[in-house]
Amino acid sequence: MSNLIIRGGNRLNGEVRVQGAKNSALPILAACVAIGGINVIDNCPRLTDVSATVKILSYLGCKVSRDGNTVTVDSSCVNRYDIPRELMHEMRSSIVFLGPLLSRMGRAELYTPGGCEIGLRPVDLHISAMRQMGSDIAEEYGRIACTSEGKLRPANISLSFPSVGTTENIMIAASTAEGTTVITNAAREPEISDLADFLNKCGADIKGAGESTVVINGVKKLHGTYHKIIPDRIVTATYMIGAAVTGGNVTLTDAGPSHLTAVSDIFEKAGCKIRSDMNSINISAPEKLRSAGTVRTMPYPGFPTDIQAPVSVMAAVSLGTTFIIESIFENRFKHIGELNRMGANIKVDGRMAVIEGVEGLRGTKVFSHDLRGGTAMVLAGLAAQGETVVADTEYIDRGCQDIEKDLKTLGADICKENSMHHERQCDF
Ligand code: UD1
Repeated sequence: MSNLIIRGGNRLNGEVRVQGAKNSALPILAACVAIGGINVIDNCPRLTDVSATVKILSYLGCKVSRDGNTVTVDSSCVNRYDIPRELMHEMRSSIVFLGPLLSRMGRAELYTPGGCEIGLRPVDLHISAMRQMGSDIAEEYGRIACTSEGKLRPANISLSFPSVGTTENIMIAASTAEGTTVITNAAREPEISDLADFLNKCGADIKGAGESTVVINGVKKLHGTYHKIIPDRIVTATYMIGAAVTGGNVTLTDAGPSHLTAVSDIFEKAGCKIRSDMNSINISAPEKLRSAGTVRTMPYPGFPTDIQAPVSVMAAVSLGTTFIIESIFENRFKHIGELNRMGANIKVDGRMAVIEGVEGLRGTKVFSHDLRGGTAMVLAGLAAQGETVVADTEYIDRGCQDIEKDLKTLGADICKENSMHHERQCDF
């Protein structure tokens, strides 16, 4: 286990390249199970959640290799339909193997990934969708046993909430179900479009991904392909906040500015200047940020819940009062207690945080309770006076590749220490 040590106060300046999107890589890798061939997935980030996905793929019989950022998955020998409880519990998005297994094997036996630090995270929408597609599903003590007796059938599925993972499971399962499946109130996240692009290259016929209605015409068979994962919009926004809270000027390359409209709007309200072209985005921050007003998390194209914790750091050091309303997850304010220990003035009432901007934060030892809460603590450390220790960084490693290296490139004083032996590798 390791801690991140940050000596705050340096302005972030310079240029870094953005990693591939975790939330694209995970469902695309899982979808390989549905395709009996070789897939080459490029721009695949090095993250513990990706390693957990690879472990499941290997357990199911796939041959997986990595060369730099390229992961090759040969799924021709998939020979199991079960995923053990320990592997399911390593990460929440393991539920996205449900659709691929039903498509390929006609059966799936897995476990509910369970609740996590940010909320209950039930899987009822996934189960209901697979039932509508003809699966028999038995649930007992967290075990989910599904069988589709050989063939999934198409369905008209109307989601009561535009769940990202459920939309992905349906798209994958329906790709090889004979006939036409229609999803209404589908999730519209860019990662949904990326998955559809990948599946279409594999021979699927999916139309409307990225819109509320997705139409999938089932095909007989899918084949392997090459696919490059889109840039990670959450990491892009995280580094932009790093620039904002340090009064910096940062350019992010290989980024996807078109996926960040709702986020860019918040930066502009706070007084930052944003310039972007097709693939890169530059942010320059004022001496003092001002409140962005009210920020409400919403399904895409609204403001992403995954940027709620990082943006609360920005609000904590902005002039005026900011209201943040978390409408996606019921328990996503755990980072607020940690921020207040650094001198922030934030009150939480149910799903709303009321943030009175303070002059500055001061460094102390803080804890990550989840991935985005952990990266928020790193951002707070960049803005704070003195030294911040962000304890137990495994959460951060689930979704951010090389955060320490990237922030160092941008001029931050940041290093790692082994949390057991307190052996630092710092050069400041
Ligand atoms: C994905 C993202 C995650 C992001 C989230 C919302 C991946 C790997 N993860 O997670 O980073 O925070 O979208 O943008 O892409 N829900 C139910 N029943 C279900 C499924 C979901 O009630 O069967 C609820 C959830 O508890 C949550 C909301 O719907 O309150 C959104 O969940 P969903 O869109 O499914 O998120 P994930 O796919 O898990």
